This record gives sequence, C-alpha cells and structure tokens, in this order.
Amino acid sequence: MGPEKMFILTGWPKDYNIVAASLNQWWKFDNISPGLLHEKLEGDPMADPELCFSAFYEGELVGLLFAVRRDIREQALGYVKLMGVHRGWRRKGIGTALYQQAEKALAAKGAGVIRLYDVPLNYFMPGIDPRYTPALCFAWKMGFLQFGEAVNMVSDLIPLDLDTSSEEKNLEKQRITIRRADPEDKPALLELLSADWQLWIHEVEMAFRDDPPSVHIAFTGNILRAFSVHNGNNKGTGWFGPMGTHTALRGKGVGSILLKRCLEDMRQQGHQRAIIPWVAPIAFYAHHVNARIDRVFWRMEKVLKTNITKWSQ
Ligand SMILES: CC(C)(COP(=O)(O)OP(=O)(O)OC[C@H]1O[C@@H](n2cnc3c(N)ncnc32)[C@H](O)[C@@H]1OP(=O)(O)O)[C@@H](O)C(=O)NCCC(=O)NCCS
Repeated sequence: MGPEKMFILTGWPKDYNIVAASLNQWWKFDNISPGLLHEKLEGDPMADPELCFSAFYEGELVGLLFAVRRDIREQALGYVKLMGVHRGWRRKGIGTALYQQAEKALAAKGAGVIRLYDVPLNYFMPGIDPRYTPALCFAWKMGFLQFGEAVNMVSDLIPLDLDTSSEEKNLEKQRITIRRADPEDKPALLELLSADWQLWIHEVEMAFRDDPPSVHIAFTGNILRAFSVHNGNNKGTGWFGPMGTHTALRGKGVGSILLKRCLEDMRQQGHQRAIIPWVAPIAFYAHHVNARIDRVFWRMEKVLKTNITKWSQ
C-alpha cells in the first residue's frame, strides 16, 4: 500500500449505520448499534468532532479512531474511546497513522496523559479486553503501559429473588425510606453527587431521561443519602450503575436494596442479565445478586508530559 493513497478525514461519521457495521466486522468480541455509537460520539458531554478520524484507501473505509478529552481533577486527559482497522488492512500502518494523528490533536488540546477506552462518564468498555491481543501489541508499540485492570460483572436476572419489601419495612422504623426518584428529586441528588461523585453526574442525568427515571433513592428523614441508577450509559444494554451511599448511611443494607430495585426494573424491561461494569466492590455484587466476573480489561496509559505525576483513579 502506498501511503499516498491513504488519507484520513476528521469529523463525525456521515453515516452511523455504515460505521457501526464496519466496526462490528472488524471487532471480534463486541457489537455496537448505530444508536449506541451515536451515544458514544455526539452524545458524549465533551463531544469533539476534531478528535474523530476515519481512514480511507482509494475511497474504501479502512480504519476508525474516535477520541475524546476530559478534565479530571484539574488534569487534561485524552482517551481513545473506540478504534478498529479493517481486517484486510492490518499491519500496514493504518492504526499507527490514526493514533499518531489523534495523539497530536489531543496534545494540542492540552492532554498530558492518554488512555485507551476507560473514559469516565461515557464509555463502551473500561479498558482493552486482552483477548484483543493485537490491540495490546499495538498499544505497547505506541508507548502505552498497563497501569491497572477493570472488570465487568454479570448477574443472571431470571432466578434472582429481588423482593425488598420486608427489608424496606424494617428500615422505615429507623426513618429510612427508599423509593424511585421523580424528576423533582434531581436537584437533591445532584447535590449529593457534587461532594465526592461528580464524575457520575452525567450517567445519573442520562438515567433521569427515562420515564419513569431509572433512578432509586434513599432518605434519612428528608435528607437524600443514597442512590442507584441503571441505563445511564450504553443505553438499552442492561447496564447498571453507578450507585452510592453516603458514609452516614452505610452498613444498614440500603445499598443492596437500591441495587435490587434497579435489577428488578431491568428484569421488568425484559433483560435476562444485568451488566455491572467497572466494578470495585466485587464481593458486594457477588453476595447480593449472585454476580460473577465476566469480562476483564487492561487499563493502558501513555504519559506525554513528564511533569504530570501519574494520575490514577
Ligand atoms: C489494534 C489494531 C487497531 C491495529 O491496527 P493496524 O492498522 O493493524 O496497526 P499498525 O499496522 O499501525 O501496527 C503498528 C504496530 O502495532 C503492533 N501490532 C499490530 N498488530 C499486531 C499483531 N497482530 N501482532 C503483533 N503486533 C502487532 C506491531 O508492532 C505493529 O508494527 P509492525 O507491523 O511494524 O510490527 C487492529 O489490530 C484492530 O483493528 N484490531 C481489532 C480492534 C481492536 O482491537 N480495537 C481496539 C484497539 S485499541
């Protein structure tokens, strides 16, 4: 392939059906719908068409790379959110050309660190599934190193007992009440999130777009202290989270009730399994909803500016 015949265009995909179908042919373990692809691109709160790259060879689409930038704890990070190269066009430098253009654009926009896929707020996967072994080899060649791991758990919904009525009655004796959120509850929930959980605001807002909201909340007296949501990211796929309980209310069983309420919603909507993504408290989900580890992802990082101390979340 003469590099002069390959060119890269910047901007949103013109046709989401074609781009989704191409990615689905190129990926081995994943499938994305045109609607979901739109959510990952133009639906991102920091959506930027200058970070979307499509490679063509003699008019044929041969590679795609979609990146995004985030300001997290006063640091600018760049993320490759989705990437793929046509199976028949691999090992010809297309991935490298796409990545180098993305890295240059992200650096020009201030990014000091680049990561692969694990984009807070709006991600498809929380890292690289190591079964995409060529992607790991590619990432190492581009200068990335693994700095962590993330797991997605799944819970089979059909056999689960998700009835929480007796636990809720017991909590009412302690003035703790749990219910589905109304749209009017949003300001109070955003206030709870503003302290420690700002990174979750977007997913909670996405869950409030559903009617009724895919959001459950717990109060002590009239103070909102805990929440759980589903359908806040990767909408329509049976995606749980985030959830959080204020330290003042922990250890009383509120989290497990909120979790089960969301899973019951998903079951009612016809989902057979819930995906519990990017999990920290594995034992909590294993214990309460019989969740098991499903997919494992490697988190990869490349530091561009050495004055940035390693940022880890
Ligand atoms: C990962 C992927 C995008 C690489 O695209 P590509 O156009 O083949 O990449 P390049 O030709 O620019 O490869 C650059 C270097 O990466 C490494 N590399 C890429 N594929 C490799 C493989 N299968 N085995 C070993 N090393 C590999 C090599 O060092 C290569 O340089 P070389 O060919 O001179 O040895 C492509 O394999 C792909 O689409 N995979 C499926 C989708 C995917 O995994 N997406 C996630 C990506 S983060």
